[in-house]
This record gives sequence, structure tokens and C-alpha cells, in this order.
Amino acid sequence: MEIKITKTTTPAAKPADESKLGFGKCFTDHMFIYDWNDKDGWHDARIVPFGNISLHPASTVFHYALEVFEGLKAYRTADGSVQLFRPIENAKRMADSAERIGLPVVPVDDFVEAVKTLISVDKDWCPYSDGCSLYIRPFLFGTDASVGLHTLHSAQFIIIVAPSGAYYANGINPVDIMIETHDVRAVRGGTGYTKCGGNYAAAQRATVEAEKKGFSQVLWLDGVEQKYIEEVGAMNIMFKIDGTVVTPSIAEKTVLPGITRKSMLEVLRDKGFKVEERKISVQELTEAVKAGKVEEAWGTGTAAVVSPVGKLQIEGVDYIINGGKIGETTQMLYDTLTGIQWGKIEDKYGWIVPVD
Ligand code: PLP
Ligand code: COI
Repeated sequence: MEIKITKTTTPAAKPADESKLGFGKCFTDHMFIYDWNDKDGWHDARIVPFGNISLHPASTVFHYALEVFEGLKAYRTADGSVQLFRPIENAKRMADSAERIGLPVVPVDDFVEAVKTLISVDKDWCPYSDGCSLYIRPFLFGTDASVGLHTLHSAQFIIIVAPSGAYYANGINPVDIMIETHDVRAVRGGTGYTKCGGNYAAAQRATVEAEKKGFSQVLWLDGVEQKYIEEVGAMNIMFKIDGTVVTPSIAEKTVLPGITRKSMLEVLRDKGFKVEERKISVQELTEAVKAGKVEEAWGTGTAAVVSPVGKLQIEGVDYIINGGKIGETTQMLYDTLTGIQWGKIEDKYGWIVPVD
């Protein structure tokens, strides 16, 4: 892939106060664009000044949500260099998502090269403050100018980059989540394991209702029996029950195979924790909470990092986990993950990819 780079002649001012960055609201000077059609395949890879894009109003993405995306971050280390965390995993997951939705697959090498080149161009935007990073948002969508829905003939892949702070306004402080018992997000055979925009649209009503009640996000149950725990709106979930770390299995393809989840399971196993990936019913969880056996609960995600769960609402009843404080295992995972990401501890897993 050859990337044509056109730099902006009007660079924007970098955020003066990184503590006020928030999440995903401010963007760097450039973006990557890659076009696809069924005649030429992927072509015209380019980095251009960040700005609005123009699309035909009949573009498939607007009508049938043919869209998938990814989320990864670039981190500034103490020596000033910038590095990525497991970008190949994001590239592979986007390929799986695209395949499920009927979008063309961006080759893994092209995805990684595009991310590296764009971050290299906008390197100066990578924040220096603790806990801040560049949130990278690759997205891929159908652009056929036709209201008829057929095999796609054209698509576009774009990457935008947002200097960001913590996803949750309260940072690493515990978040409150509630089990959603009405709406469902994913069913077997559906798109739950993909990062497609449609999953988040299906989740939106319950998320808004939860926010109105003061919760950060909902905890989804399986879409068939509404009996088993699946994941949170923007993160996977783990519980430490009676000394064992338990997390919902991803085998039925209804849960997003989180890269943070995969990484944290590896760290836990490596450190000798007993780990179980399996079905967890609401009944089992409720009984364990009531018996005081749920020692810790936390979510894992690129945006959310490792977020302790302070309050869990089950069928209208609030349960406080670990006295509403961050637990030992949660803290260990947070420190290990952020330590590797910011280059403060050795990356013995080979997860880091430097940006030249
Ligand atoms: N589950 C959902 C629904 C998500 O949106 C995310 C965020 O990307 C995750 C889980 C965590 O995945 P990852 O760790 O790859 O960011
Ligand atoms: C991420 O963690 O990268 C996500 O995509 C979650 C998103 C809802 C911000």
C-alpha cells in the first residue's frame, strides 16, 4: 500500500490543558482515507487534513447501517516516543466484523500500516499527561449510492484520532452499572461478536435509560433466555467470586471478544489466578453477591481500561461491591495494563508496537 500524504497548511492549536480533554471530542490535524470498489479493490490510500466528508444521501451506510469500527490507543512513553497496544488484534477483529456485515476486508497489514503512518504524522498530538492518550477510531462503511440493498460495490475506510483522557468522567473510580432485563443487544447467529455500529444502536435506549437513573452503563444479558451475563455497553465484565476470576465465555459469539479482556486473562493466568470463562447466570451472581462472595467486579475495554464496578443493580436492587472501592486484583490489572501501555513496565508479552 502506498500512502499519499497531504499535510494541512492550517494546523490547529493543540489542547492547552490536557486535564480537560474528555473523551473523543477533539481531533488531530489529519485522517487516513482508503477507497474500495469491486473493480479496483482497495486503492487511493491517503492521509489528508482532518475535515468533513461528503457522501451521497443514498449511501448504504445511512440506510442499512453497513458499518464496522475499531478502537485502539497510542501512548506517549517517558522517553517521548509513541507506541500502540496490539494493533494487529484490532485489524483482525475488524476483518471478522467486516466479513459478518458483508463489507470488504481491509488487509491486516494495510490496517496496521495506516494506523502507524497516521499516528506518526500526528505524533505531536499525543498527550504527555498521565492517563491521557490518542484514541484511534478506524471505521469502514458501505458507500453505494443506492437505496436498493444488494451486494456492495463500494466502501470507504477512514481513521480519525482523538487526543483523550479517561472514558468515564470519574477516571479509575468505581462505576455503577445495572442489569438490563428488557432490551437485548445480541442473539446467537447475530452480530454480537462484531464491532458494528448497529450493535450500539440496539443498545442505545437502555443505555440512555440507565444514564437517567445515574448508572454509567448497562450489563447485558443473553438475548435468548435473558438469564446469563454477557458484557457491559463498552466493556467486557469480570468477577472475582470466592477467589476465582469468572468472565462470560465468548464461544457463542454474542459477546465482543475484547482485546483488553484477552490481555487481562493472559496476565491473570500468568500470575497464577484461577480463571474461568463460562456462562454465569444472574441467579448465580445474585446468590454470590448476597453471600458476600463477589469480592470484586470490573470491566475491561480500550476506552474504559480496567474499571472497577462499585454498584451493581440486579432486578431493581442495588448491591455494593467491595465496599464501593477498587479491589486488589482490579488494581493489579489496571497497573499492569497501563504500565505496559505507557512503557513503565516491561512488555514481556510482546503487545507493544512502536510508532516510528
Ligand atoms: N464490549 C463492547 C461492547 C465494547 O464496545 C468494547 C470496547 O471496545 C469492549 C467490549 C472491549 O473491547 P476492547 O478491550 O477490545 O476494547
Ligand atoms: C472502545 O473501548 O474502544 C470502544 O469502542 C467503546 C466505545 C463505546 C467508546
